[in-house]
Amino acid sequence: MHIKVLGAGAGGGLPQWNCGCRNCADARSGRLPAMSQSSLAVSVDGQGWAVLNASPDIRQQFAVTPQLAPTGLRDSPLRAVVLTNGDIDHVAGLLTLREKTRFTVFATSQTLDILDANAVFAVLDPALVEKSRIALDSPFAPLDGLEVTAFAVPGKVALYLEGDEVDTNAMGEQTVGLRLSADGHTVYYIPGCAKVTDDLLARLADADLVLFDGTVWRNDEMPSTGTGAKTGARMGHVAMDGPDGSIARLAGLTCRKVFVHINNTNPALQPDGPERAALSAAGWQIAADGMEITP
Ligand code: MLT
Ligand code: MN
Ligand code: ZN
Repeated sequence: MHIKVLGAGAGGGLPQWNCGCRNCADARSGRLPAMSQSSLAVSVDGQGWAVLNASPDIRQQFAVTPQLAPTGLRDSPLRAVVLTNGDIDHVAGLLTLREKTRFTVFATSQTLDILDANAVFAVLDPALVEKSRIALDSPFAPLDGLEVTAFAVPGKVALYLEGDEVDTNAMGEQTVGLRLSADGHTVYYIPGCAKVTDDLLARLADADLVLFDGTVWRNDEMPSTGTGAKTGARMGHVAMDGPDGSIARLAGLTCRKVFVHINNTNPALQPDGPERAALSAAGWQIAADGMEITP
């Protein structure tokens, strides 16, 4: 299985357009590598590729990824897009993929219903772009030789669908993780997860590689830095640090562990900071745009 990180960032990317935090300033000055928004590409044979989440940066992500360059006058190696939720950073890129090329979008009914309810997504010509409704815990094959299973993880509905009351730990079709299996290797891709439950821990036992929600280091990171009012929990993202954080909860996993969907405010982006040192000591890596992983 070939995995390529197209975008290591969370919604907004690094630098985020309206943010003057230290990380964003460092990315503007070139002291930190920029990150585009949340997406992975996966292939079994190196020829056909599935993209997991279609970010608003997908045009540039394709432009800098040789594996995704057209193979003919109007032939793309893209075969499928798999969505883990309806968040803007995961679906807006579908609008860029509108130019008469055949591929299949795989997502839960709840997520596909969001696309169907928004007329702008009708630019994906239904004669060419099939929408495949995936059921939780039922394997499907977006590529020959790649078995994918979506499973519920704690999360909330997309920001633009929030009502007055938001259940940030809801379990269902609105936020899923993906188990990928090919050539005897098992990879989990979980870019959004509000809580590491015992069920999730048990599920990850067969992992060779886990790509996990690295949005914030601390739950109160945005309020405490003045960059926003919301906690990680309120945004549907478990923090890396703390007794219930992902580092502590996933400490028993001895496989390769990589954080993805990293918010621009996350202090672990600083290579020489104490947060990065703690993360590395705990056996984790931070993803970067263009990172290639062969599990
Ligand atoms: C998230 O991951 O929390 C969302 O991408 C937020 C957003 O839509 O801006
Ligand atoms: Mn996001
Ligand atoms: Zn910032």
